[in-house]
Amino acid sequence: MIQELEKLLDEARAEIGKVVVAAEAEGLRVKYLGKKGAVSALLAKLRDVPTAERPAFGARANQVKTEIEGQLASLTTQLERAALDQELRRERYDVTLPGRRPEPLGHVHPVAQTGRDLLEIFARLGFSSVETPEVELDYYNFEALNQPADHPARDMQDTFYVDSAALGERAPKSPVLLRSHTSSAQIREMLKRQPPVRIVSPGRVYRRDDDPTHAPMFHQIEVLYVDRDVSLGDLKWTLDQIAKGLFGPDIGTRLRASFFPFVQPGAEVDITCTVCRGAGCRVCKGTGFIEVLGAGMVHPQVLRNVGYDPETVSGFAFGLGVDRFAMLRYGLTDLRLFFENDLRFLEAF
Ligand code: DAH
Repeated sequence: MIQELEKLLDEARAEIGKVVVAAEAEGLRVKYLGKKGAVSALLAKLRDVPTAERPAFGARANQVKTEIEGQLASLTTQLERAALDQELRRERYDVTLPGRRPEPLGHVHPVAQTGRDLLEIFARLGFSSVETPEVELDYYNFEALNQPADHPARDMQDTFYVDSAALGERAPKSPVLLRSHTSSAQIREMLKRQPPVRIVSPGRVYRRDDDPTHAPMFHQIEVLYVDRDVSLGDLKWTLDQIAKGLFGPDIGTRLRASFFPFVQPGAEVDITCTVCRGAGCRVCKGTGFIEVLGAGMVHPQVLRNVGYDPETVSGFAFGLGVDRFAMLRYGLTDLRLFFENDLRFLEAF
């Protein structure tokens, strides 16, 4: 009888050794340890064992049972763990991880970046940004800005006209052109609201120009502040904030009297040379300053044109070339590089 027990144990060990999935282990548990299993069947034959051998048989039978139980239990745990591992490896994502940022394709163009940085400085000073049409009426671009059809100042901005006659009856009364400057935004915005007006207006502008420092299309930001008691001092302070904000605290500004039809007085604005920081170099032709933009106090007639009373409000305006600021910032001498779309150049920023 004892031999039968040993045979059973050997058989069980061999079968357990071959198991690969948990279900098979469960089958073996039933086969050997179940109520009608092999171990119970042997124990049922206890009667046939001679009395003297019974205690030894009983003890060994218990050992066999315990061993089979133990082996099956550890096998089951092992198989379950392996199954879980496999499952986890198949599920390659972990929903608790923070998301992955998509790889950006390219980056912001240096001119756009400079424009954004400028707008951010203006935003901090309390200017809100508004965009006005790129295809503009002569009225907003010239006429309302004190530049009637025969005004000689128009020559400097000779520009691209749209053949609006083709529109027949629907053609606007005023000629249509690609705007030559963003100053048109001054008129459009003042007509829309009452002072205080504190706006900046960025966008593309067009002129019949093409040389290393002038492109037929370039970018401007128009700045306009109209309120009670706005002075030339406010203009100068604002210009200083822009120069320092973009180029550093050691860069200042200076105003030189100049003429623009829509301001009185008008000025050309220079900033400290960003290359030599004022000492004098080739770029600033030894002067320590570089011309960057036009500015002035809004002309009383322009205020009247939009229905404002020049006796109660005053304002300043200036228009800056974003591309020009970008050139200074990155130390370039040829503006056209910005628009050739050569990736070797653009990737350098
Ligand atoms: N619109 C002028 C230009 O494009 C720049 C300018 C000059 C704007 C004086 C202004 C200003 O607002 O006051 O050349």
